[in-house]
Amino acid sequence: MKRYMITSALPYANGPIHIGHLAGAYLPADIFTRFLRLKGEDVIHICGTDEHGVAITLRALKEGVSPKELVDRYHERIKSDFSKFGIEFDHFSRTTRPIHYENAQRFFLRLHEKGYLYKAKMKQFYDPKSGRFLPDRYVIGTCPYCGYPEARGDQCEKCGRQIDPEDLKEARSALTGEPVVLKETVHWFFKLSALKEPLREYVSSKDWKPFVKEFALSWIDELRDRAITRDLDWGIPIPLNDYDAEGKVMYVWFEAPIGYISATMEWAEEVKGDPEAWKPYWTDEDTVLVHFIGKDNIVFHTVIWPAMLYAHGDYILPTEVPANAFLNLQGRKLSTSRGYAIWADELVESVGQDIARYAVALYIPEKDDSDFNVRDAFTRTNAELVDNFGNFAQRVLSFINRYMGGKVPHPGQLKGEDEAMLRLLEETVRKYEDLLLRYEIRLALREAVKLGAEANRYYEHQAPWKLRKEDPERAKTVLYVAFQILKGLSALFYPYVPSSVKRLWEYMDLPDTSFQSLVKPDPSLAGHPVKESKPLYRKVEEKVIRGWEEELKKRYERATAGDKREEPRIKYEDFAKVKLRVAKILEAERIPKTDKLLKLTVDLGDERRTLVAGIGHVYKPEELPGKYIVVVANLKKKKLRGVVSDGMLLAAHDEEGNPVLLTVEREVPPGSEIG
Ligand code: MF3
Ligand code: ZN
Repeated sequence: MKRYMITSALPYANGPIHIGHLAGAYLPADIFTRFLRLKGEDVIHICGTDEHGVAITLRALKEGVSPKELVDRYHERIKSDFSKFGIEFDHFSRTTRPIHYENAQRFFLRLHEKGYLYKAKMKQFYDPKSGRFLPDRYVIGTCPYCGYPEARGDQCEKCGRQIDPEDLKEARSALTGEPVVLKETVHWFFKLSALKEPLREYVSSKDWKPFVKEFALSWIDELRDRAITRDLDWGIPIPLNDYDAEGKVMYVWFEAPIGYISATMEWAEEVKGDPEAWKPYWTDEDTVLVHFIGKDNIVFHTVIWPAMLYAHGDYILPTEVPANAFLNLQGRKLSTSRGYAIWADELVESVGQDIARYAVALYIPEKDDSDFNVRDAFTRTNAELVDNFGNFAQRVLSFINRYMGGKVPHPGQLKGEDEAMLRLLEETVRKYEDLLLRYEIRLALREAVKLGAEANRYYEHQAPWKLRKEDPERAKTVLYVAFQILKGLSALFYPYVPSSVKRLWEYMDLPDTSFQSLVKPDPSLAGHPVKESKPLYRKVEEKVIRGWEEELKKRYERATAGDKREEPRIKYEDFAKVKLRVAKILEAERIPKTDKLLKLTVDLGDERRTLVAGIGHVYKPEELPGKYIVVVANLKKKKLRGVVSDGMLLAAHDEEGNPVLLTVEREVPPGSEIG
């Protein structure tokens, strides 16, 4: 028996659960855990809500409630969403529990004592009106790339680009709307740079998905110390007797993963009634520690969290990090804040728990982003789950009930096709187990579906309803074989659609529902009585599918309505203030240590100017000299990465947001005015 410690990313308590969350982490984690548990492994699945950090405070502010009220509400909501979707945890905790505060503070102190944390000054945006330092996301301004006026200091929601908050134009506070200033503050930093080599060795030794491993390694290459405290009043206080620690809390990404351990401790106390029971799961080298996460969490789980655990010294490091990519919906990005999603609870209400789980499982984005299209999802679920597995179960059980006196018949001599069928079960089980243990959850399901299809074909071909009169002995053999196959199939489908399979087990009235017993044909079941059965599933009807399509179209329109609002018109005089001129590029070179910035020297007719342009990810310096471009000539000078930019070139942004230079239709003398 192996010991597994399984976690799913702690969801922020700032919104309900949608299918993107489910496909990204919780459903695969639940499937994996159920599979291991069915096999009798020692496994616990731990989760809880992530209740601190900017995401929470920002949302609370928007809703006009306190962070505490917000997280109380969403903790309950999220817990209920998971339960409706059949996602089971051994314990579902919260990062606001006292046990977590204590544990996170102990963790912090240990790192501090071991010399992994140090205090240093840094500059950060400050909102004089609210008297608060602002994390990047709290700084709002005009995007330097696309001009979106509501861009956040970490990323522009409109064009999706990463932003350096210092590049925002008209930077203001998300709290008060007032202009922000750069001000010095003190923070504790985690000496990640000292852990570069052990981390590289650790990640290199792992057999993770290529995109996860590559991402982690490239991060380790550029590993720098990171601030792990924040100037906020919502969070876990810094447990140091230090004047500088006042008004500061731990960075949410520092304490939240510690929450995995705290939640396991709480499980030990509250569920197991043994305060020590958590220890083997986090300290024994034989434990397989698995973190199910979405791809936006990779760095934290493959680099920073392992670094924390390593520095701490008492704990094991993650064994597996089966990260998933993103799920889109009808070809579009999901968004909690804009309300473009299918929520877990409404999907279950609409089609039932297991149809919902199956439909989502089909689109787990294991390698690349995948697209949940409601028509495809339900059409496939109807075919693969309802018509295939469900139909086979119903046929076999109702035949036994109707024509075999409600008992699994005793078989006669097995024929080649019967044996082939049983062999196929055996082979399928082997492949299925291999795949699941490699986190190939979609492929494992393919194997189960293939076996189901073969089982239906076998049954159809043998046609026991004819044999019943023509060759009753043979009919018995076929039903015996079919029952054994159904038993095996039930094990393979169980992790994906647990509640309907449990119902099936009741109908089959099996003495033993462990994986090993289910997948092995059991001759002693000849003569075994079964119960009356009802169909396991109902197909998703066309009108339900169409209803979803229409509803999602509406949601998308609502979500994007704000984007299309008409820009206010300006007077000609306002436009005339902008002096546009033609310039000829003379030289271009990359600005070191940046990936986008080029330094251009241009000819403006009567003068030469230096411009800094963020086009280096699209244009090579050597292809630029000689080009005639359009520049804004009367902008205030601005220093970017140590270079003073005296003007701005104009570019269109293509579908991907990449710059396309504006040029003139015919060469005109450099410096020519535009208007
Ligand atoms: N709350 C984070 C998110 O939703 C995940 C936190 S996972 C943990 O992206 F490791 F920090 F707990
Ligand atoms: Zn933008």
